[in-house]
Amino acid sequence: MSSAAERFDVIVIGSGIAGLSLALDLADRCRVAVLTKAAIDEGSTRYAQGGLAAVLAPSDSFEAHVEDTLVAGAGLCRRAVVESVVRQGPAAVAQLLERGVQLDRDEDGGLKLTREGGHGARRIVHYADATGVSIEAALVARIRERSGAIEVREHTIAVDLITRARTARGRGVGLPGSRDDRVLGVYALDIARNEVSALAAPVVVLATGGSGRCYQFTSNPDVATGDGVAMAYRAGARVANMEFFQFHPTALFHPRRKHLLISEALRGEGGILRNAAGERFMPAAHPLAELAPRDIVARAIDRELKTRGDASVFLDMTHLPPDFLVERFPTIFNACKEVDIDLRSQPIPVVPAAHYQCGGVLVDSEGRTQIRGLLAIGEVSCTGIHGANRLASNSLLEAAVYARRAAAIALELLADTGPADVPLPGGWDAGVASPPDEKVLFNQAWDEVRRLMWNYVGIVRSNRRLERAKRRLELLYGEVREEYWRFLIDADLIELRNLVTVSRLVVASALARQESRGLHYSLDYPEADDENWLRDTVLRRPLAD
Ligand code: FAD
Ligand code: SIN
Repeated sequence: MSSAAERFDVIVIGSGIAGLSLALDLADRCRVAVLTKAAIDEGSTRYAQGGLAAVLAPSDSFEAHVEDTLVAGAGLCRRAVVESVVRQGPAAVAQLLERGVQLDRDEDGGLKLTREGGHGARRIVHYADATGVSIEAALVARIRERSGAIEVREHTIAVDLITRARTARGRGVGLPGSRDDRVLGVYALDIARNEVSALAAPVVVLATGGSGRCYQFTSNPDVATGDGVAMAYRAGARVANMEFFQFHPTALFHPRRKHLLISEALRGEGGILRNAAGERFMPAAHPLAELAPRDIVARAIDRELKTRGDASVFLDMTHLPPDFLVERFPTIFNACKEVDIDLRSQPIPVVPAAHYQCGGVLVDSEGRTQIRGLLAIGEVSCTGIHGANRLASNSLLEAAVYARRAAAIALELLADTGPADVPLPGGWDAGVASPPDEKVLFNQAWDEVRRLMWNYVGIVRSNRRLERAKRRLELLYGEVREEYWRFLIDADLIELRNLVTVSRLVVASALARQESRGLHYSLDYPEADDENWLRDTVLRRPLAD
């Protein structure tokens, strides 16, 4: 036992919209630490372009937003969750405004609303095409003002959760993840000092975002390596619906610029998709054409690329007023300009890219996992709002709403538990480890995972490809595990281990679901099978193969 463990009431892992919103709700009410593995503002939140969906127009209705969400979710959304989140949309927007988030307004001072795929109405609040920058900057500013109440540790990566069942090693407290289990804290690596310490808290909130880096091509930033899902899975929590990985239809295709999303809002404002021959192909694929749900647009592009053998399709904005384009999409305009594409006069070359993890750590309607004290909010969680496919701009909404709910639960848990009765976790055992000798081994494994996920577990799947992916991932998993225990802990290795774990979960879930639904499309089972598969795919350690 280490008596040196620092104690907090609540440890929040992650500093995107979910983690920072929750930390602000708790400030001054308990002792909060926010751990974040890069700079505080790094994460998917800051790159969000399109905006946040909420019913604000008099001509819109909660029922219509609920219906659009359910249609996109292809039968797997939890209706009650969708209804309650949608109804809290206006309050979530009001809270963000109170915290200083800037949003575009019209001449009368009302919030400007745009439209995105799958939405039957204009209901997306935004700040030009830099909504995420606006949200993250305001939340970080508010957090900095509360530095006495919230302790932020940047460049500190959570390695693993400390739970009672894991610490007690079977001494009468049940299995990891069982009803008697509870979270005790976190092992975290201070990256600059290369030191792991145990931090104790009766409440730990996973707000670690998604896992787009499992794929070779992604819109996600480098931090999106699925750490929260992997840590929760190792601790015995349930993980659901990992087969539903959303591919955004339009990321820039250019050798000099990676990770640039070309927002769906461009299609919302009239952008047209064309193949390399200049032909428009979406009207034949869906009645909503370019504004069809994302899975349909991404699959139509994939089909176009595969049948024609082209490297990209094109998003054509050249018929829209040039001044409007520059004013409405300054981030995208400037980023395209940097690689010599002028979207006022040239169609933008685009391809689909891995974008959003619809599944995640399974939580109840307040963000609780089944491990006592362990909460999960934002993209890391599976609340049931997205079902088999997320509707555009619903994720910032979900994160804001669940942050508030989970903050209330954290306070309830603290009132029940009392920080004083949390036992100290065991110290980190560095064993006989030495610094990694050959980083080339990690680099090779990183590349292998991301390529095989892209090629075998992408937009269109088959049993043959999934089985191949599974065999290769098992081999990599064994190798990474061996490296992990042999060498001194290292941030790259921590992320690699998580990336392989999450990829295994995606493949296991995709193999389990013997139908096509939402974002999971299988050549072997091309139809939806409501009789057998109108349910979540839930995995728990050990991985059911
Ligand atoms: P993030 O904002 O990703 O934050 C995760 C945090 O966890 C980061 O601070 C990260 O460093 C930290 N972290 C991760 N692992 C660890 C660890 N082991 N230890 C310590 N810290 C860790 N959604 C919309 O609704 N509307 C949009 O317009 C929109 N546009 C998008 C555009 C892009 C390019 C991308 C990538 C996503 C977009 N999304 C959009 C999705 C949305 O941005 C994300 O789902 C949302 O921001 C996730 O917020 P979060 O707080 O859950 O996670
Ligand atoms: C976009 O701007 O296209 C992204 C919106 C989202 O992912 O919700």
